[in-house]
Amino acid sequence: MAEFTKAQIEAVAKNFQYDGEMVDVRPYGNGHINDTFLLELQMEQGNRKVILQQINHHVFAKPEEVMENIMNVTRYLNQKIRENGGDPWRETLNVVPAVDGKAYYLDEEGGFWRSYIFITDATCYDQVETPQDFYESAYSFGKFQNLLAEYPAETLHETIVGFHDTRARFAAFKKAVEEDVMGRAAEVQEEIRFVLEREDVANCFAELLDRKELPLRVTHNDTKLNNIMIDNKTRKGICVIDLDTVMPGLAMNDFGDSIRFGASTAAEDEKDLSRVSCDLGLFETYTKGFLEGCGGKLTKKEIELLPMGAKVMTYECGMRFLADYLQGDVYFKIHRPEHNLDRCRTQFKLVADMEAKWEAMQEIVAKCI
Ligand SMILES: Nc1ncnc2c1ncn2[C@@H]1O[C@H](COP(=O)(O)OP(=O)(O)O)[C@@H](O)[C@H]1O
Ligand SMILES: [Mg+2]
Repeated sequence: MAEFTKAQIEAVAKNFQYDGEMVDVRPYGNGHINDTFLLELQMEQGNRKVILQQINHHVFAKPEEVMENIMNVTRYLNQKIRENGGDPWRETLNVVPAVDGKAYYLDEEGGFWRSYIFITDATCYDQVETPQDFYESAYSFGKFQNLLAEYPAETLHETIVGFHDTRARFAAFKKAVEEDVMGRAAEVQEEIRFVLEREDVANCFAELLDRKELPLRVTHNDTKLNNIMIDNKTRKGICVIDLDTVMPGLAMNDFGDSIRFGASTAAEDEKDLSRVSCDLGLFETYTKGFLEGCGGKLTKKEIELLPMGAKVMTYECGMRFLADYLQGDVYFKIHRPEHNLDRCRTQFKLVADMEAKWEAMQEIVAKCI
């Protein structure tokens, strides 16, 4: 158990509304953000499993707000799933409250803990094994939009302020270029130009929001395959998990980020750019799954803007890698000297590839409606 002893976990567990004694505990899953444990509780009617997690408070400055968002969204989902005749214990996360009734327990060292009912007979996969897995993740994230379509998104906390405010990120990028604290700007002129030439991409969604032409949605903001639980028997996506980054946002951004990393033919830090492209087959698979999951809840405008979502998210990500390179690699962890530069180049290659395939991407979206 990484940093915790069994006794420590046992002490934390005592602060949650568990009806049974903890009889087993082990570290669980492949998450990179939180510390996750699987606990087995002995109950009269048979043993039950729960998830216990310490929230990473370096990433989330206000864990109380994270938990308030999660409580509100999961309660709403639970209700919706019941109304639709689904299984609310498997199709949404369910928070187990602390003994004092709060959604979390704060330990003496300032650690934030929370607990969920364990979702049985399902698995989180790190890698897409077949296009069907990619479809299932798209469908699940689309369904998430569908179920939350009438939720008042503006009432949620913006737990990471300006997370996908691409216009603000563009301004921050320009500042990083001007300051050039590492003296690296001269050697990456081509990449800098790539960003500056596309200010319209940075502004696109912000301007539409200013004009109130886009609805604010409940977005997930971490739409990886391994945040979907896939049923062991049917291999269908059953539940969206990892709701820490649930915030008000745009449907196209959740969609676009999935395309950015899921439909790319190469790794995010591939050095050989000839291997990097946007796979239109995977783009189609994801678009189909996402729109089917959304079940008609997106506006015509949102649907039309799905390719733009892919482009904006990829552009924004590349811009952030390049800004971090200019600032001396202070945000993203690097494993080699020009790692952030390599990363920004794959993103810009993808953006350029999407621009070349723009009409085809739009046709695919039109076909999937
Ligand atoms: N309610 C749950 N039921 C079953 N497994 C879960 C549950 N919540 C989390 N997990 C498992 O724990 C892993 C890490 O949890 P997650 O909330 O995604 O944390 P991280 O933010 O670190 O990725 C998941 O990938 C999944 O395997
Ligand atoms: Mg996760």
